[in-house]
This record gives sequence, C-alpha cells and structure tokens, in this order.
Amino acid sequence: MKTFAIAIDGPSASGKSTVAKIVAEKLNFLYVDTGAMYRAFTYACIINNIDPKNETEAIKLIGKINISFNKENHITLNNIDVSKEIRMNDVADNVSYIASYKDIRIELVRLQRGIANDRNVVMDGRDIGSHVLPNADVKIFQIAEANERARRRYKENLEKGINSSFDSILENVKKRDYIDSHREFSPLVAAKDCITIDTTYMSIEDVVNEILKICKSKGIE
Ligand code: CDP
Repeated sequence: MKTFAIAIDGPSASGKSTVAKIVAEKLNFLYVDTGAMYRAFTYACIINNIDPKNETEAIKLIGKINISFNKENHITLNNIDVSKEIRMNDVADNVSYIASYKDIRIELVRLQRGIANDRNVVMDGRDIGSHVLPNADVKIFQIAEANERARRRYKENLEKGINSSFDSILENVKKRDYIDSHREFSPLVAAKDCITIDTTYMSIEDVVNEILKICKSKGIE
C-alpha cells in the first residue's frame, strides 16, 4: 500500500513542531518529532555523566539505550517518558553537538525511516526532505527571522514553566543554527525540491492552511 510522507524542515524554533502536529491531526497522519530523538540521546548522555561534546564517549551509548515513542506519541528513553526532561536548557545547549555525530545520526535516521516505512507521517526536523525521506510527497522548509523565533520559544518556555531569558534563548537559537548548518554530515539545508515558507509574519493557522493547500495539490487531503 502506498504511504504518504510530509517532511517539514527548518531552523530552531521556527514553529515546525506546532504546525506539524496540527497538520498531522487534520490529515490523520502520525506526527514524528525527530528533534525529540536527538534531545533524548543528549539527555541520556547527561544522566550517564557523559560530556555531549565528547564524541568518542557519546557514541558508546548507541545500542545501549532505547529511544522510541509510546502510545501517546511521547518520546521515551529506555521506555521511560522523558518528554519534559528533553526540553531542559541543559539539553537545548548540548543537542547540536550530539546531532553532529555521524554514527548517532545513522542510528536515529534508521529508526526514523523504520517509523515512516509502513504508515502516513508528518515528520519534522532538519534533514527530513534532504536525507531521511528524499521521496517525501511534500517537502516544506519553514523559516522565520531569528528574533521572532526566539520570541516564540520564550513564550513557549513560559507556558511550560521553563525559566529562561529572551537573550539566552536568542543566543541558543543562533548557536544551533550555526552548528546545524555547518556540520559535515547531513546539515540543515533546504532540499532542492522543497517549498520554503517564511513564517515571520504568519499566524500558526495561516501556515497550517498553506501546508494543507500544498498537500491537497498533491492529492493528500
Ligand atoms: O524545536 P527546536 O527547533 O528547538 O529543535 P528540535 O527540533 O527539538 O531539534 C533539536 C536539535 O536536534 C536541533 O538543533 C538539531 O541540532 C538536531 N536535529 C537534527 O540535527 N536533525 C533533525 N532531523 C532534528 C533535529
């Protein structure tokens, strides 16, 4: 049976996950948050006293930890729901190092392809259209100016009760953009055949509707 895949890529805090979740709900597709998987790996390093900047040590966890999604679609580490823990500042500060290690990417991409193999998905990340699912039916590259992205993340953190300053978020967003775009293996790039949506001045609803329109034009509704 033919399955459909919608890839939504873009830089940090561009609102991909908010939009991807709604699009998935509307289409009755599974939402897959690949960033949560890199965050869970980072969290695993932290609780195992491994410095995420130490590639040799970090990659030793491959095969020793289990990262997946439970029935509620929450990220789990060794079957424990870590969806709250992976949003900690400590994880945000270190995740781009973990995401730059080739062996870790190969392992997590293998899991991501497995999830998309036999079901309809909306998958968000940095390299979904360019690398993970190159045959995705719809490829979106969602961008927004850095200040606006930091504002959105600041608001989101406040709502989640995470304490952080606007300036430190802006700095983190810019730092991750840089590392994600400059890493050697599978960097953050717009896929050749993607549609770029600049969401700086758009509401969530506008972005969702725009993506649903694109999906419809490809026969997905
Ligand atoms: O939501 P936010 O923009 O903060 O980031 P995320 O989607 O949770 O991803 C966290 C980090 O994981 C990113 O900054 C990337 O370093 C990495 N990542 C990646 O390299 N490839 C992906 N497909 C998804 C995330």
